[in-house]
Amino acid sequence: MTNNLDNPAVILAKRPEGLPEPDDFRLETRSLGPRSSGQIRCQTLYLSLDPYMRSVIAGNHMGHGVDPGEVIAGEVVARVVESDDDDWPIDTVVRCQSGWQTLSDHPAEALSRVPASLSRPSLVLSILGMPGLTAWAGMVDLAKVRDGDVVVIPAAVGGVGAMAAQLCKRAGATTIAITSGEAKRRIALETLGYDYCIDRVEEDLAESLTRIAPGGVSVYFDLVGDPTLTTVAQQLSIGGRVVLCGLIKDYNGDHKTTGPHPGLWITKRATVSGLVVYDYESQRTAFEDEFVPLAESGDLVANEEMHDGLATAPDAFCELMRGRNHGKVVVKVGD
Ligand SMILES: NC(=O)c1ccc[n+]([C@@H]2O[C@H](COP(=O)([O-])OP(=O)(O)OC[C@H]3O[C@@H](n4cnc5c(N)ncnc54)[C@H](OP(=O)(O)O)[C@@H]3O)[C@@H](O)[C@H]2O)c1
Repeated sequence: MTNNLDNPAVILAKRPEGLPEPDDFRLETRSLGPRSSGQIRCQTLYLSLDPYMRSVIAGNHMGHGVDPGEVIAGEVVARVVESDDDDWPIDTVVRCQSGWQTLSDHPAEALSRVPASLSRPSLVLSILGMPGLTAWAGMVDLAKVRDGDVVVIPAAVGGVGAMAAQLCKRAGATTIAITSGEAKRRIALETLGYDYCIDRVEEDLAESLTRIAPGGVSVYFDLVGDPTLTTVAQQLSIGGRVVLCGLIKDYNGDHKTTGPHPGLWITKRATVSGLVVYDYESQRTAFEDEFVPLAESGDLVANEEMHDGLATAPDAFCELMRGRNHGKVVVKVGD
């Protein structure tokens, strides 16, 4: 057993006001003392950066948060480096809530095994992980997307959007991406196989939807909030389904989504569902069993934006919160 190891970590320096800035974070080398008995020591390989972390560092993510001076919370893929537990031997690759740091200790029940058949373990943070499961919950479980549906997906090339698009195509639906910039348009159409793409900055969303989907939108996966939510809702077909999942427009505190007047839902005979991915944790193993083989065979495309080194995490997160990421944001922390 080792004593007092150097443990590089990213700390919340101060709570951001509005858009987060790199100096809201601080890279520190903390000392990690001896491992307690029953704990398993893990070394981070990949760190997931996700929009929900904005509410974590604001101190109000679904009842919990991080305070200044604490390590930022987050999910990682890690390798077991010290263990007395025969079920979790050294070199086992696991998924756990280590936060933005290099080393962490966990009880066995806080670890999940990364499927051994997976050649790219980072995928359990992206298309085969929380964002992918969110897409499955929204498009398969709640909206029940089927052949003939016309589905609109904003934040179209990110962690959730990339998987949502592919699930909808597999179900036989027509998919319409909403994204920004030429590079993301190409990823949407050429890498992820969307049928159409609308640029949220350069194009008029209502006009474009009327042209592309004259019969209306049957499913809308709301990952962003207003004004996109209200504009797409106005173009729903009768009996349309809307899954409310994210409010990225509101996360930096300078915007408040209200959504359409309830009268619109009534006239459209719409079904509106709220989605929290934590409710789907019990289905994660079945989800992995179904989709790991498809990722391995190349039938599912992961669109990851990989950053190199823990020190890049603050900048990468600030860019994510400005909508400048080009895929699911992952930081490679170790080998
Ligand atoms: N309810 C749940 O359980 C649950 C679970 C996972 C994720 N979510 C939510 O789902 C959404 C997507 O998550 P993700 O991880 O897949 O993120 P992401 O798509 O990788 O990144 C966010 C994207 O949002 C788009 N965006 C649109 N308007 C924006 C604005 N005003 N500011 C910044 N970005 C803007 C940008 O893409 P474009 O430039 O392409 O528009 C940006 O790249 C988030 O709102 C997240 O909180 C919810």
